[in-house]
Amino acid sequence: MQNILITGGAGFIGSHLTRLFVTKYPEYNIVNLDALTYAGNLNNLKDIEHAPNYTFVKGDITDIAFVSNLFATHQFTGVLHCAAESHVDRSITDPLAFVRTNVIGTVSLLQAAKEHWKSNMAEKVFYHISTDEVYGSLGNEGFFTEETAYDPRSPYSASKASSDHFVRAYFHTYQLPVKISNCSNNYGPFHFPEKLIPLCIHNIIHKKALPIYGKGENIRDWLFVEDHVKAIDVIFHKGKVGETYNIGGHNEWTNIDLVKELCKQMDQKLGRAVGESEQLITYVKDRAGHDLRYAIDATKLKDELGWLPSLQFEEGISKTIDWYLNNSEWLDNVTSGDYQKYYSSLYGS
Ligand code: NAD
Ligand code: TYD
Repeated sequence: MQNILITGGAGFIGSHLTRLFVTKYPEYNIVNLDALTYAGNLNNLKDIEHAPNYTFVKGDITDIAFVSNLFATHQFTGVLHCAAESHVDRSITDPLAFVRTNVIGTVSLLQAAKEHWKSNMAEKVFYHISTDEVYGSLGNEGFFTEETAYDPRSPYSASKASSDHFVRAYFHTYQLPVKISNCSNNYGPFHFPEKLIPLCIHNIIHKKALPIYGKGENIRDWLFVEDHVKAIDVIFHKGKVGETYNIGGHNEWTNIDLVKELCKQMDQKLGRAVGESEQLITYVKDRAGHDLRYAIDATKLKDELGWLPSLQFEEGISKTIDWYLNNSEWLDNVTSGDYQKYYSSLYGS
């Protein structure tokens, strides 16, 4: 029997994680705490919202009194902490929002866990979901391992690095049973269309410009979101307390090649002429401080816990495009209202 708090469960990764835990572990009680910011959407969880082992609570992780009360009410035995401000471009515009949620919010959760977890520590886990961006930017060679020194370079990655340090500080100082994973870029259903892949899928559907920052030569290591949450499941249950695990799919793409692959697959699926969507590619001003390359070495996770990604990229992208084409209502909902303001402030029109 476990009472588990998932934070940010209405977001992209959090919704896949919540679905996995609610369906795979009917004996666990899962509480999803989410502030429902622009990135949080209860439509991401429609299929499980009435499950008997699932409760949604709207609230802000930076509200320490509220979080502490929630611990008292639900007697959590585990925390899966996903809630965050997660978009680099937004962090460049508004860094303090990232300090607030990612740093203060994480410390507020750590503090509540420390106050409420006084006994049976061997049965407790505070799991912090983090990013490979804390390691900084790679050149053309090499990979991030768990030993790579932190070198965050955007306000987003600096806030995530800071939260990782606090999580480790609570382990060393107060013996809080923590685990951390640092994952590469995710893609898949329910991904908010401010990030590269869903933004381009949305724009290809609507025949709008596909904005490529700089020369499109930056490299990201893409992992299907369901493979990420399967790794989290394994680490949560079998990973060692106090340890960090890198998660990634050895799947590096330059942005321009990735967008061309999207165009190719979507032209086929939409019955458009070969090469039609590539005409939409538009090179725009580069992102400030744009990290060149991220690439994860996930050997530790494979060797110690046996996790490997299950999907090849072309297959994962095809599944993802199909999901967006079959869920146009979801896409229309999230791109109405405030999204238009965000889009024109960043991209013009
Ligand atoms: P997301 O932006 O899609 O979702 C974040 C969720 O957190 C939303 O539901 C939002 O409402 C909620 N939230 C934000 N502020 C909150 C607050 N103050 N209190 C309570 N809830 C709040 O993010 P995501 O892409 O699903 O990322 C989830 C986690 O995974 C983040 O910690 C991110 O750093 C990490 N991560 C993401 C990726 C990726 O490619 N998306 C890769 C590696 C790691
Ligand atoms: P993004 O999806 O924002 O993830 P992250 O910055 O966390 O890696 O961006 C992925 C890559 O795509 C990154 O190199 C920036 C680039 N990019 C564009 O070229 N155009 C865009 O409109 C966006 C959103 C991103």
